[in-house]
Amino acid sequence: MDMYEIIRRKRDGAELTDEEIRAFIRGYTDGRIPDYQAAAFCMAVFFRDMTDRETAVLTEAMADSGDRLDLSGFGRMTADKHSTGGVGDKTSLIVIPAAASLGCVTAKMSGRGLGHTGGTVDKLESIPGYRTSLSPEAFLDQVRRVGIAVIGQTGNLTPADKKLYALRDVTATVDSIPLIASSIMSKKLAAGAANIVLDVKAGSGSFMKTLDRAALLADKMVRIGTAAGRNVTAVITDMDVPLGTHIGNALEVREAVAVLRDGLRNDLYEVSVCLTAHLAGMTLGIPFGEAERRVKEAIASGLAYRKMLEWIGAQGGDISCIEDLSKLPKGRYAARVKSPADGYILKMDAETVGRTSLHLGAGRATKEDVIDPGAGIVLRRKTGDRVREGETLCTLYTDRKSALGPAKELFLSALTFGAEKPEPRPLVCRVISTAR
Ligand code: URA
Repeated sequence: MDMYEIIRRKRDGAELTDEEIRAFIRGYTDGRIPDYQAAAFCMAVFFRDMTDRETAVLTEAMADSGDRLDLSGFGRMTADKHSTGGVGDKTSLIVIPAAASLGCVTAKMSGRGLGHTGGTVDKLESIPGYRTSLSPEAFLDQVRRVGIAVIGQTGNLTPADKKLYALRDVTATVDSIPLIASSIMSKKLAAGAANIVLDVKAGSGSFMKTLDRAALLADKMVRIGTAAGRNVTAVITDMDVPLGTHIGNALEVREAVAVLRDGLRNDLYEVSVCLTAHLAGMTLGIPFGEAERRVKEAIASGLAYRKMLEWIGAQGGDISCIEDLSKLPKGRYAARVKSPADGYILKMDAETVGRTSLHLGAGRATKEDVIDPGAGIVLRRKTGDRVREGETLCTLYTDRKSALGPAKELFLSALTFGAEKPEPRPLVCRVISTAR
């Protein structure tokens, strides 16, 4: 295999053969292809794109670069969910127990947050005792007993993606639709579920800033998954504004519990119900409307909340911290941010709010950073709300007192005020599915 020739052909706009793509992934995974050639390859793909066939082959090659989880013992009842990443996006904490309470088998590997977006594993680790690492045997045993296990990305799953993603992160090649689609779908294929719901975020707080780009990515991922024999539905949801009101790890657990147990019915509830209904509909083989009715009933009756407690407890988490949320970590220092103006909030830039939360200690700027589980933001007002000068817009929480001043400034820079109420944006923008 001549890597120089593969890079040159892609640079000049050629369609690569299956063997060229597989040889690149094999060679890069085992270290024969150096980072500088892999970086040049990614940049060539960034500018020249890939056909659906090329993207599908790249995805399968990455999925095959390490172990695959064998969930065949659960038949077609296995269900998985992925979000392309957002701010305040804690839907997994609701979707997973709600789907499992209806009989879906959810054996899930989740990621950590990076940059301004949060990750499910970090949120779960804010619950004292919760184990995000289980042996393959313990993981499958829990799935068999409880119907749910959620752990971090383990061991040798998609090592090609691990290497390539880290390289893309530092070579300005993350933002490429075939590279994102193959990165996400290789992990989903290797994780083994038969039914997959993808929450593709569109807006200022996500990778895909526009609905058109989000739709291209969603369409590509659905086609890759379907070609690999999975049922896949992509739901494009709004990420121009943070989802819900709580941002930061333990704070987000609180809001998820408020939906499952305390009757909170907000944008987070709406998006979570929609995602769960698509996932349960595919897995149980029932129409969306019927699935939606059952999901709402499971949440309203407390069935989904009880499943959450069973899951967290089985995985070592201290469920007294869920039953009494005041026992979860919360930043030692708090500060209210007051509105500098009268009027409507025209825009609350989700990425800037995410960066504010990062500054408070809720996320990582680099992979080595340690997270403060109690840090974050509770929003009192969001886009479209009318506010008075001096009214509280949000409360910031942190253990680092010195972070409060700069975080206040940053949060205020996310906001635009005006005299006219802005048009509300739809929460669920589009659904793309080839599920049978
Ligand atoms: N999430 C992933 O897992 N991979 C990407 O390339 C982008 C977002």
